[in-house]
Amino acid sequence: MLRCLLCLVAAVLIIVLPTNPAIAATNDRYLVRFLHVTEPIDLQLDEKGETRSYSPESLLRGKELFEASCLNCHVGGATLPDPQVSLALKKLQGANPPRDNINNLVAFMRQPMVYDGSTETFWCRQVPESWMTQDQIESLAAFVLTAAQRAPGWGTDEF
Ligand code: HEC
Repeated sequence: MLRCLLCLVAAVLIIVLPTNPAIAATNDRYLVRFLHVTEPIDLQLDEKGETRSYSPESLLRGKELFEASCLNCHVGGATLPDPQVSLALKKLQGANPPRDNINNLVAFMRQPMVYDGSTETFWCRQVPESWMTQDQIESLAAFVLTAAQRAPGWGTDEF
């Protein structure tokens, strides 16, 4: 009887722990060690300075989306096909319009533009709404922005 109970508890732990997003997020090594994210963080939403709070779970979702869809070209924040336009914070800030806030990053992903904003670019991967919802793409933007702000070597040659 006791063994049965122990098995049951173990089974519940094995199933529940890794699938619980809050626990998975605070256990994620990259988020915790390199981005120092263990609780919700405020990120700049627009150029006017408005901010919005993003949870560790949201950033973890963003990281997973990035790994699945962007990593091929942007490993460690670099841009392999065009190293001049990396995802480093300085580069994001220097784009026109600046891409160091959530709304502008989302706008870029919905319709990628060249660095000076003059025309569309076909080099980066466009993310239509049929692929990622507003919620998902914001998580992705929140991850990119946080990595650019905090990950050592992000977007430089030192990854
Ligand atoms: C096939 C390769 C490729 C993939 C996949 C890709 N990108 Fe890009 N990305 C590029 C290239 C090349 C540029 C530079 C484009 C330009 O300036 O014309 C770029 C530019 C960017 C920029 C602007 C950087 C800056 O300094 O202004 C961001 C942000 C970005 N990509 C995010 C993403 C995200 C998020 C994903 C995943 C959804 C993604 N990219 C997928 C190739 C790629």
